[in-house]
Amino acid sequence: MDQSTIAASGTCADLFAAIDGLRRDLKAVILAHYYQEPDIQDIADHVGDSLALAQVAAETDAEVIVFAGVHFMAETAKILNPDKQVLLPDLAAGCSLADGCPPEAFGKFLADYPGHKVISYINCSAATKAMSDIICTSGNALKVVASFPPDQPLVFAPDRFLGAWVSRRLGRDMALWPGSCEVHEMFSEKKLVELKALCPGAVVAAHPECPNAILQHADHVGSTAAILEFARSCPEQEIIVVTEPGILHQMQKQNPGKTLIPVPGADESCSCNECPYMKKNTLEKLYLCMRDRTPEIIVDPEVARRALVPIRRMLELGR
Ligand code: 13P
Ligand code: SF4
Repeated sequence: MDQSTIAASGTCADLFAAIDGLRRDLKAVILAHYYQEPDIQDIADHVGDSLALAQVAAETDAEVIVFAGVHFMAETAKILNPDKQVLLPDLAAGCSLADGCPPEAFGKFLADYPGHKVISYINCSAATKAMSDIICTSGNALKVVASFPPDQPLVFAPDRFLGAWVSRRLGRDMALWPGSCEVHEMFSEKKLVELKALCPGAVVAAHPECPNAILQHADHVGSTAAILEFARSCPEQEIIVVTEPGILHQMQKQNPGKTLIPVPGADESCSCNECPYMKKNTLEKLYLCMRDRTPEIIVDPEVARRALVPIRRMLELGR
């Protein structure tokens, strides 16, 4: 089939074959986050959490990076690879955390905290990263915060729930930017408590972007990769999952015998536990962005130069 007609009329198998061909032609690597739709995860070269994907992006020798995730992830890959083309299937795949921390407002916020070191969650714009001392993900936030001497005052941005969880775990106060993930703050505590009562043998795994009202019910709190590791290693056969349901694809593949129970959002009439930004990417858009080599991530070189410093510090610290 002619490549130009595949996206309009092709079957999934056509698209898989076409994407595979383009991957070879472009010498591209396809990176996918665990919240992407199953087909995208299945065709990707690497599926991972934010940290693992940043680590792969930092080391790849591919000529083109196709990032099936959200904008800040692709932007981080571009900052790490200024001379490579980085493609994102849908440029509108944003993030409420990144959008909720505009650099001008963040600059004013920081002016109130002289002498503080600034730790920014990777879910923020390049311009916000450029104002930070170090970046973290949910996979290494505890390690990053603990790397500062105990008497060093800290600002943590932009996720107040992740920041509060780290503060509680380490017994360490931090000034928190008041941001949140619109998906993780919407999980229903009432439904979670009901599910726990209905499934007394189940364990609860939750992402630290959730508010404490949710986390206090969890047996395990961690990044998407850590939640998957917990699901593999726990002896329990039923797992209540409090994060974006895209993760269930890998979790079910890795644990075919276990029962996975996703927690719905507070409004059960909608699928608001799904990230609307992650779900903007589709297999068709993945194909089209590779065929047309657009949308491409562009970062102002000066902003990128400054943002690279705290990203590199995070990568040197590792998971
Ligand atoms: P991790 O994959 O790092 O756990 O992050 C979750 C997330 O919300 C990404 O946007
Ligand atoms: Fe951003 Fe939340 Fe979506 Fe992750 S799940 S990309 S933090 S809006």
